[in-house]
Amino acid sequence: QAVRLWGGRFAGGPSEALARLSLSTHFDWRLARHDIAGSRAHARVLHAAGLLTPDELAQMIKGLDLLETDVASGAFTPVLADEDVHTALERGFIERVGTELGGRLRAGRSRNDQIATLVRMYLREQARVIAAEVLDLVCALADQAEANIDVAMPGRTHLQHAQPVLLAHHLMAHAWPLVRDVQRLRDWDARADVSAYGSGALAGSSLGLDPEAVAADLGFSRSVENSIDGTAARDVVAEFGFVSAMIGVDLSRFAEEIILWATKEFSFVTLDDAFSTGSSIMPQKKNPDIAELARGKAGRLIGDLAGLLATLKGLPLAYNRDLQEDKEPVFDAVDNLTILLPAFTGMVATLTFDGERMAELAPQGFSLATDIAEWLVRSRVPFREAHELAGACVRVCEERGIDLPDLTDADLAAVSPHLTPEVREVLTVGGSLGSRSAKGGTAPVRVAEQLADLRSAIAGH
Ligand code: ARG
Repeated sequence: QAVRLWGGRFAGGPSEALARLSLSTHFDWRLARHDIAGSRAHARVLHAAGLLTPDELAQMIKGLDLLETDVASGAFTPVLADEDVHTALERGFIERVGTELGGRLRAGRSRNDQIATLVRMYLREQARVIAAEVLDLVCALADQAEANIDVAMPGRTHLQHAQPVLLAHHLMAHAWPLVRDVQRLRDWDARADVSAYGSGALAGSSLGLDPEAVAADLGFSRSVENSIDGTAARDVVAEFGFVSAMIGVDLSRFAEEIILWATKEFSFVTLDDAFSTGSSIMPQKKNPDIAELARGKAGRLIGDLAGLLATLKGLPLAYNRDLQEDKEPVFDAVDNLTILLPAFTGMVATLTFDGERMAELAPQGFSLATDIAEWLVRSRVPFREAHELAGACVRVCEERGIDLPDLTDADLAAVSPHLTPEVREVLTVGGSLGSRSAKGGTAPVRVAEQLADLRSAIAGH
């Protein structure tokens, strides 16, 4: 049985070394279901173009159904001599319907337009799976925000205490980028929603086959405008790689905080036993491995994207075999994200926050100094001067090893006559939080609204 899709002009078969290099079934076999769907759609347009009798079409569809069943059950698998998924499936098809009919299916299509289409079909399915998993994580974040709605914590810039914020506000700051990642997947889908079938090898099909009909059959809203673009472009694949890498980076930034928060020094959070690991030598250890794997996999996802872009950058039009290298990076991204996200969500959903500890640290490190400055501005002191005066208060405190609320009325008055005892109303975490009540701020009323907005963003997807 001939197992190559080419060979007529060759005196002999490929060398073993070439055959081994050429092989792609170990990664493109996951597209078998999509390849068969493409074949069904292709058979229908061959029939519509008058190139197959109704009976031949019926036999072909039957053969393809049979093949699909055997692929699904594992009864049919690629052999070493099958160059790629297309080659293997043509062999399987011919085994089921005979050489005469089986040899008619390939008319008017090329592996170039096939593979460009199948990758889109597969990635569109996976994008939905990933989006749903990301939304589960957003949901876990919203639940944690709600469960800890009153907890204050030190907000940081440069990792230094900056201003008190609500933990819920901080958690939702991790949720919104993930919501945007879900939107990105959706926006991406609109660009991926184009079939390349009918492009042929590069120049289009001469047999009167309708690309739009194949597109509709395969769940696309349209087919490509340009057959060269259809077979040569991989920007859609690269963009999927970018969104995957962005999700990885968003998870990684949160992961880094969870790792810090779980240290003895921070003691902000305890990880659930089911979502942490131990040490083979140190009996006391409880490690945040999920967060660390998330951080590690972000590097890998960035690498997947960078490798793919490097593969694409020098390629002339149209199809080049280099393009076979487009699949493993995005398949790797899919495999890693779909395995990482449920674990990450489980870890987040089961975090226990030490609200008392976080609240106790919230006002430390002079994080209420801005509140003094802004209180002065409300009593008409220019901000430039107010900033200096609040800074002077910090200096006094530092000299004496005390905190801002410990300053006596006399201390305050000594810094400036503007600093009357009324300034104390903002020298509490509650006062500071409540004052940041403009839209997007950390005031409890705004955070409650924000939580409702986040819930409707989740429901809207
Ligand atoms: N396996 C190839 C790929 O993944 C498709 C086959 C195209 N081969 C060719 N010789 N034109 O891109």
